Parts: sequence; C-alpha cells; structure tokens
Amino acid sequence: MTVDFRYGKPGYTVLNVTDLDRTSEFLTNIFWISPAGEGPGGERFFRSGPQHHDVVLHQNDQPGFVRHAWEMESEEDVQKAYRHYESIGLKPKWLSKEESQVLGLGLNPVFRVREPTAGIYFEYYSDMLKISSPLPIRGTEFEGFLHSAVNVPDVKASTEFAVENMGFVVSDILGDYIGTLVRAYPIPHHHTFAFLPTFGGPPGFNHVAWKVKTIDDIGRFYNRAKNSGITVGFGIGRHPTSGSVHTYIHDPDGMSWEYSQGMEQFPEQNYRRARYMSPAPEDYDLWGARPHEAFGKSGNIVTAGPDE
Ligand SMILES: [Fe+2]
Repeated sequence: MTVDFRYGKPGYTVLNVTDLDRTSEFLTNIFWISPAGEGPGGERFFRSGPQHHDVVLHQNDQPGFVRHAWEMESEEDVQKAYRHYESIGLKPKWLSKEESQVLGLGLNPVFRVREPTAGIYFEYYSDMLKISSPLPIRGTEFEGFLHSAVNVPDVKASTEFAVENMGFVVSDILGDYIGTLVRAYPIPHHHTFAFLPTFGGPPGFNHVAWKVKTIDDIGRFYNRAKNSGITVGFGIGRHPTSGSVHTYIHDPDGMSWEYSQGMEQFPEQNYRRARYMSPAPEDYDLWGARPHEAFGKSGNIVTAGPDE
C-alpha cells in the first residue's frame, strides 16, 4: 500500500436533483430506500439500514454528483488520511462541528478533500450516528451503500492518482483504460468506486449502487421499475468483471441507480492482480444485457464548492 490509512466501508453519496419531491418519491416507491429526515438547508436524507443516512439529496438547477464519503476503520485512520493529503499538497479541510452534527457525524473529526484529476470530492469520517427505530420502508434486504461511479476525461490518470495517493487498488481494467473498477483498500468488495470515460466531455456522473442480499431483491426491483414505467438503464444482467447480478434504473433526472448482488470479494492479503477485460459490446454482460443509450450520461460533477 502507498498510504498508511485504512478504509472501513463505503459511507454515503451526495447528489443534486432538480426536484426533491419527485426524486424522493422515486427513492421511496421504486428504490425502496427509507426517508431519514431533512437538514437545515432542505437537503433530504435516506437510509437503507441503521445508519443516519446512505444518501443526501440537494435541490439544484442541474442534476449531478456532489461527493462520495468513506467510513474509515478508526478515528486514527481519518487523522492519518488528513495528514497524508496535506503532505501531498491537496488542501484537505476539516468540517465544522455544526456541519458534522447535521450529518450524524458529530462525534469525531471529519474532513473533505478534492482529488485533482477530475475534481471529485471525497469525505472521510469514522463514526456515523445509528438509528434504532425500524426502517419505514422494507421489502429489499439491503447490505449497504456500495459505490459511486463517475465519468472522467482521463481514466488512466484518475486511476493512477487514486492508486498512488489515495490507497485504492484496481480490480479490473476495461480495454485500454476505457474504464477501471477500483476498491478502497482493504474493503473486500470488487469495486467501491469506478472511473468511466467521458468520451471527450466534461466530468460527469455515471451511477450509484447499493448491495442487496438476494437475487429476488434484484428480480423484484427490475419488474417494479418496468411495471411503473421507469427506464431500465442496464440489466437485468451479470457483470463479467465482478460477477455481480445487476439492474440499473433511471431516476426522474435520468441519473442511474443500481442494485448489485453477489459481487466478488477480495481477501486482505494475496488478492488477485487486476485483469484487462474486453470492452467489446458482446462482452459487456454475461446474460446479454445491453445498456440503454442514455445510461450513465445524466448528471454533472460539482467540481468546486462555495467555501473553496
Ligand atoms: Fe455499478
């Protein structure tokens, strides 16, 4: 490893949407993730388990990706990560106690840092508030938030930066760096982040994913979406890379949300090397699924904040 801090699990994701009510309805009625209150700016929280939230939605004129947060193994890992980013000149910034508390992260220090290749914003925390009341919406056996995927202008450069400076490990490379599936070490999931191509455009959002327990969760999700007239972006299928069964559907802004089941798990030591995988259309999916033409193409990446 090139860094001395350890990731615990994918934490949560923050997205901009153009109509909070509309997307909230989509999340509760179709995605079956539970509402978990509002913040002081009108932002809305949703959770799939006992944690304070897995996703935060903000109202904005443009749909898009705001940041991805990591839960670290310990407070010490957060401190080590901060010092590391500071030492390589990235200007990490501690959150105020007020902002941490709104996010249910108020117990221990939290910081944010923007990686330089595409302007992706990351957050590091160690402890999130646990909610003991039962989830209001059930039906899917969620195993937690799994990953964010973003479209970047230079997949190789973004991947190499993350490997050399952020403690990421590459699990699979699509073609000649058309895309990479990476994990924040030592999280065992095949990928906890993905860099995909912009094909010449500016950085953009691709999708966010939740891990679900059974194939029934995926099958029901696929049919629930289809029966409700929701666009299925990709699936139902099985990825040749991670081996996971997947279905992606589009929210009211056209952004993609995924259910993933049965992903390859990596041991902490002696894990396999990254493979170079065929990017040919016939090799996209083991069950012959093909992405919708609009899949992974809606949403920007917010590359600067008001306080930066
Ligand atoms: Fe995914």
